[in-house]
Amino acid sequence: MPYFCIVEKQICILAIESSCDETSASVCINGEILSNHIAGQTVHERYGGVVPELASRAHMQNIVPVVHTALATAKCSMQDIDAVAFTQAPGLIGSLLVGAQFAKSMALALDKPLIAVHHMQAHVLANLIPEERPEFPFLCLTVSGGHTQIVVAHSPLRLEVIGETIDDAAGEAFDKTAKLLGLPYPGGPLVDKYAKEGNPEKFKFAEPQIPELNFSFSGLKTSVLYFLQAQTKEHPDFIKENLVDLCASVQHTIIRILLKKVKKAVQQTGIRQICIAGGVSANSGLRAQLQEAGRKHGWKTFIPPFQYCTDNAGMIAITAYYKYLAGQFADMEVSPSARSEW
Ligand code: KG4
Ligand code: ZN
Repeated sequence: MPYFCIVEKQICILAIESSCDETSASVCINGEILSNHIAGQTVHERYGGVVPELASRAHMQNIVPVVHTALATAKCSMQDIDAVAFTQAPGLIGSLLVGAQFAKSMALALDKPLIAVHHMQAHVLANLIPEERPEFPFLCLTVSGGHTQIVVAHSPLRLEVIGETIDDAAGEAFDKTAKLLGLPYPGGPLVDKYAKEGNPEKFKFAEPQIPELNFSFSGLKTSVLYFLQAQTKEHPDFIKENLVDLCASVQHTIIRILLKKVKKAVQQTGIRQICIAGGVSANSGLRAQLQEAGRKHGWKTFIPPFQYCTDNAGMIAITAYYKYLAGQFADMEVSPSARSEW
């Protein structure tokens, strides 16, 4: 009798992320991330924000070495790749074009399928990378530099946005208030650092009353601006002398606004598995307070490791893996889009 040995197919995906100012490549085999290499761009520091033209040029310089490093770290060769994935939207169009064109060229040269990934979906699915994963359906608070959303994840490929910001994103709230405090861009990580030493109750800032599960952060920036203008008029050194308390108070306000809506989303949906995602999910205060809220309200909380919070290709790879399993491939005419429609 013949003996059939069934060898399970290994699905090896190379993923590229280039939506903003991080050039990243990742290799994933059967949903396990083997490498996640990220090259940041320091060229923007002196401009106080990302300069799109410079970001595209830096992606051009970075992309080949970043892909090589990701393959080498994963101990994979180009011949091992079964599909090439890239971030299609949203983002800076010039930055997206570099990743898209590189991915298309590789897919063509290797004669392998191409997978187009939505950046915001990928942030949510970063929660499926660690071994301890949420069960479906779960809620995800996605907080990045351009977006603030509450999403119901019904399955890896069926996500429903049930709340979002009507103006600034949470990351912008961090970055814009940081700028008012004289901190360099991006201010979020620095506010986080200083907030650890400050008193979060020292200064009170207005919290918006926005209906349903939506958010607003533009009022907070204005409230901080007027407060600082009034204080520095009397005491020119006010910011310097109160920096850590100002950071702690602003951060505390942002986290309160976010967690209030998460609580409301839990009440509305009955879903008690809560994830966070996006750059702001790297914030130590948000991570700690989400866990505390989980203990208090009986939620099961999931927080991605730091390297999968800010922009990274690992999250593109895990999303592409589920798209591969579902046969969702892109054709070669696909083009990137700056807009964020799903
Ligand atoms: O997800 P991300 O890397 O890029 C976008 O898709 O936008 O998010 C970037 C945002 C920036 O606004 C940055 O200041 C913020 O995430 N961020 C943080 C922290 N680390 C990054 N905000 C607060 N605390 C942090 N530790
Ligand atoms: Zn992002």
